[in-house]
Amino acid sequence: MVFRSRIVGCGHYLPQRVVTNADLEKIIDTSDEWIRKRTGIQARHIAAEGELTSDLARSAAQEALKNAGRKAEDLDLIVLATSTPDETFPATATRVQAQLGMTSGAAFDVQAVCSGFVYALSVADNFVKAGAARKVLVIGAETYSRILDWQDRGTCVLFGDGAGAVVLEAEEGSGANSDRGILSTHIFSDGRHHDALYVDGGPSSTQSTGHLRMQGQEVFRHAVNNMAQAIDVALEANDMTPGDVDWLVPHQANSRIIEAMARKLNLPMDQVIMTVQKHANTSSASIPLALYEGVNDGRIKEGQVTLMEAMGGGFTWGSAIARL
Ligand code: COA
Repeated sequence: MVFRSRIVGCGHYLPQRVVTNADLEKIIDTSDEWIRKRTGIQARHIAAEGELTSDLARSAAQEALKNAGRKAEDLDLIVLATSTPDETFPATATRVQAQLGMTSGAAFDVQAVCSGFVYALSVADNFVKAGAARKVLVIGAETYSRILDWQDRGTCVLFGDGAGAVVLEAEEGSGANSDRGILSTHIFSDGRHHDALYVDGGPSSTQSTGHLRMQGQEVFRHAVNNMAQAIDVALEANDMTPGDVDWLVPHQANSRIIEAMARKLNLPMDQVIMTVQKHANTSSASIPLALYEGVNDGRIKEGQVTLMEAMGGGFTWGSAIARL
């Protein structure tokens, strides 16, 4: 029997506290104008004290399950993308599994920084295609506020906290081009670029959590090239042209990078889901948060072709095409 996976529900969670650029002006030497002009970011959500990545993930997961009309006990797999886990181990996914009341199947984390959701979707989709899972929760959840150096204005203004989730369900058939479901996923990495974007701590190196460090211009340059390549590969694999894409749901790091990707696809900005202005960069949560928004407000309709792409520390990057 041949299977493909279909996204049957989306969910999201954003912490209550909103920090605007004007709020940041009060604690570091920055300006609303600088942040908006360079990144498009106006505000971000920040988790409350004691609010953990697993809490954000659970809330997003519960909404995704509700919207899918499925229960936690129906699931046989949770794949959670995060680079800000609650603890070094166990996997944050297992905490979410327990909180949801799911006592069978398996749950594990995937670590690919800002490409995490595309990686997790790829892993989950391949489990479904292999016949090894039938109902999968895929989550991207982050509390980057905990790993930011709040003295470093070059990075702390760029990120926010949040979580997004989707429920995937197996359907029979490999999927003709008109069928709904995930049509392709492609993931890549090139570990030579470690120093451009990393966290200067960890259990094995410093026995402390560390802080995010980034060479912004280096990341910018690679982001545009790598994501353009991932888009080309995805279109080619599906025998599609940019004209076949209804929606671009990109990783939300920077409005200038997103606009460059839209130009590459020749897509007007009203076919791009953009949330970076109010969420900032939520790393692995950014794509499922944007997807939730597009589906929930009715812009993305059943059967429409949605292209997702991301790039993150490592470097890692990738793309996915789904017919929603
Ligand atoms: N507020 C005000 N000034 C700031 C600032 C801030 N928050 N952060 C940096 N600056 C200053 C710098 O100190 C520098 O000043 P100087 O010229 O006096 O030395 C100046 O602004 C330019 O800094 P630079 O780092 O060259 O800016 P940039 O045009 O490259 O923009 C980024 C910085 C981070 C916005 C940009 O490089 C970028 O978006 N990179 C990609 C980041 C990304 O997407 N990361 C996530 C990938 S998943």
